[in-house]
Amino acid sequence: MGNKTFTITDNETGKRIELPALKDGQGIPAIDISTLYRDHGYLTFDPGFQSTASCRSGITFIDGDKGILRYRGYPIEQLAESSSFLEVSYLLMNGELPGKEKLDDFVSMISRHTMLKESLRTFYKGFYHDAHPMASMVGVVGSLSAFYHDSTDVHDPRHRVIAAHRMLAKMPTIAAACYKYSIGEPFIYPKNSLSYCGNLLHMMFSVPSEDYVVDPVAEKALDMIFILHADHEQNASTATVRLSGSSGSNPFACISSGITALWGPAHGGANEAVLHMLNEIGDTSNIAKYIAKAKDKDDPFRLMGFGHRVYKNHDPRATIIRKMCYEVLEKFGDPNDPMFELAMGLEEIALKDDYFIEKKLYPNVDFYSGIIYKALGIPTNMFTVMFAVARTVGWVSQWMEMISEPGQRIGRPRQMYVGKDVRDYVPVEKR
Ligand code: CMC
Repeated sequence: MGNKTFTITDNETGKRIELPALKDGQGIPAIDISTLYRDHGYLTFDPGFQSTASCRSGITFIDGDKGILRYRGYPIEQLAESSSFLEVSYLLMNGELPGKEKLDDFVSMISRHTMLKESLRTFYKGFYHDAHPMASMVGVVGSLSAFYHDSTDVHDPRHRVIAAHRMLAKMPTIAAACYKYSIGEPFIYPKNSLSYCGNLLHMMFSVPSEDYVVDPVAEKALDMIFILHADHEQNASTATVRLSGSSGSNPFACISSGITALWGPAHGGANEAVLHMLNEIGDTSNIAKYIAKAKDKDDPFRLMGFGHRVYKNHDPRATIIRKMCYEVLEKFGDPNDPMFELAMGLEEIALKDDYFIEKKLYPNVDFYSGIIYKALGIPTNMFTVMFAVARTVGWVSQWMEMISEPGQRIGRPRQMYVGKDVRDYVPVEKR
């Protein structure tokens, strides 16, 4: 924190207000406006929070202009290359990479908490048979608080850790059950001997009547996608988890609210939307028409999987996952599936198009994750569920950081009221 100040002047009244200047750990200046309304009667207006830092956080760093993403200081490229999803999870939650013994303990503890209560499994039967798996996931995750009263006291640090571990451990089981229910197959119990992502594949794709062997390329690809999606500072879903948590709600309810925010096509739903878009485009001969639609201000169509609020140079996750995407397509891609040719054609043309270059719209991580999921045989309506499983560790880490911050307060934005001025009620017969 520096001792500089910023001065703002109200040009109408001549009033000058001095505000404290802050600096974040990377030297980016910020104006502390927290007392602006209370002491001076002014609001700030920032719809979409484009210039508003809502918290201090030591978890994830992004420099959108330079295309930098780091977890706890470690570059995403190094973690994707050399780490594993559970090691990254430990790092995000605890702040440091674990030694061998701590990592082994953590992995073994997470793999021993993967089961769901049998009565929770029966919840799924209440959903309509063709429910979207994200709808089931929101409901089941929210209901976890009804099963784990012993870890919902947010003021008890031990409760917080237990709840965080439970969430991380049970999300693959919940996700796989959402899928199995949607296709009418029996739920598969987790196998503690498998890796985090191997277990998820096992619970999604094995059936009780046959042996299932997890494919190592699929397992590695999933692990890497999960590392890339594990946290992304104050995005819409994480900000939602923090806002829900700021009122003291239990962590399971908070994560459930994060899942709802993730669902939309502008956020985590983009990976599913990419596949719907490719289906709609249908053929490489239609690419030019759809690029023109994306550029047309009067047409709501957008190229799904392109653009990002923060990355205005490139999405570093996309650079890493793109390479993996080609490896996966080589092994699993159906060479006769026109979808892959279409995706690659779209990528090539959009990268050369002036509109996309000028507006700094590049393929983001979810352009490629959708294509990888499709090649791995994961159904389209499960794409955002996979994202939710990977992001859970980010949500719980951010939630724990917020709750343990001294002086933590409820999040409560203000508004600029633009509705009617005071008026008298008119009885219905006189209206
Ligand atoms: N296709 C066509 N035009 C676009 C696109 C796109 N995908 N994205 C942005 N633009 C245009 C937009 O019309 C605007 O043009 P103008 O300045 O002339 O009004 C300009 O680029 C800036 O866009 P914006 O909507 O003001 O930017 P934003 O920061 O509010 O939105 C975004 C970011 C990611 C929501 C947006 O780029 C988008 O809708 N992309 C498609 C959905 C998508 O892929 N989302 C996943 C993001 S990565 C996963 C995650 O972290 O959630």
